[in-house]
Amino acid sequence: MKRLAVLTSGGDAPGMNAAIRAVTRMGLANGWQVFGVRHGFSGLIHGEMEALGARDVGGVMQLGGTLLGSARCAEMKTEQGQLEALRQLAGRGIDALVVIGGNGSQTGAHALSQRGLRVVGVASTIDNDLLGTDITIGATTAIDIALESIDRLGVTASSHQRGFFVEVMGRDCGYLATVVGIAGGAEAIVVPEQEITPEAVAAEIRDAYQRGKTHAIIVVAEGAHYDADALARYFEEHEARLGFDMRVCKLGHVQRGGAPGAADRLLATRLGAAAVQQLDAGHHGVLVGQHGGELCTTPLAQVVGATKPVDPRLLAMAAVLAR
Ligand code: F6P
Repeated sequence: MKRLAVLTSGGDAPGMNAAIRAVTRMGLANGWQVFGVRHGFSGLIHGEMEALGARDVGGVMQLGGTLLGSARCAEMKTEQGQLEALRQLAGRGIDALVVIGGNGSQTGAHALSQRGLRVVGVASTIDNDLLGTDITIGATTAIDIALESIDRLGVTASSHQRGFFVEVMGRDCGYLATVVGIAGGAEAIVVPEQEITPEAVAAEIRDAYQRGKTHAIIVVAEGAHYDADALARYFEEHEARLGFDMRVCKLGHVQRGGAPGAADRLLATRLGAAAVQQLDAGHHGVLVGQHGGELCTTPLAQVVGATKPVDPRLLAMAAVLAR
């Protein structure tokens, strides 16, 4: 019997469970025996896996997180770790693997693929920084969660004529900050891709006050050269406070822990099912993603180590509309 394993790796993302469900049920329907690996590559290296049936993945679509667990795994970067992962799979007669995760996870997937394993990646990270897909599993839900927080911050900020430096996740990529800033009506957006000086941010805040705004929201990507703490320090040190009293709010892991919305459930289901179909069609060493509403595949070799750029036109538009 054909045997495949599925794992989730790196930061959990809302929708991962829908992807696991789709891989499992499409796999079973296509004649595979499906194994779920616990705790990502770490569990793979240590042989933590068990067969999954259709009922094991029932009632999970609406749950955030990942029922298989996840981990960051330094061992997977070593030759020894990769060979052990292959040995664990071979010992169970498993010769295909679906890796649901982001950049670091797809790097691990690529390494195993280069060693001869049939591997298909599924694009999943709240950061939406992966090449090979317009949108990754979890990003849309994370954006919605951040927006809900920003809307609430705006309410209390207006009552006190305050401003907030709101720090969002995204690692080295400014995608989350950009779309959250636009959809949240931020006065300024600070991202790693476009350097902006603290002086310029302070000027935006002053201008917003002088134009009669009741609050200021500055969305800051965690990977920006000047993060929320650095900007707040500058603001204090230079007595750049004019009107608004500035505070810092870091949304952090709150963005990752939500229940997946419809878009992420649908995307995860489509990508998970497609991953199995790719294996059945004899395709591997690829990432399954979505482009222009259609499913697509990209060689893992092109995906690893690269970051999807933020569209500078979005940032330019946001700056105009913040007036
Ligand atoms: O890659 C997803 C992500 O949430 C990033 O946005 C963030 O920088 C990182 O993971 C945090 O990682 P951890 O949960 O291991 O602290």
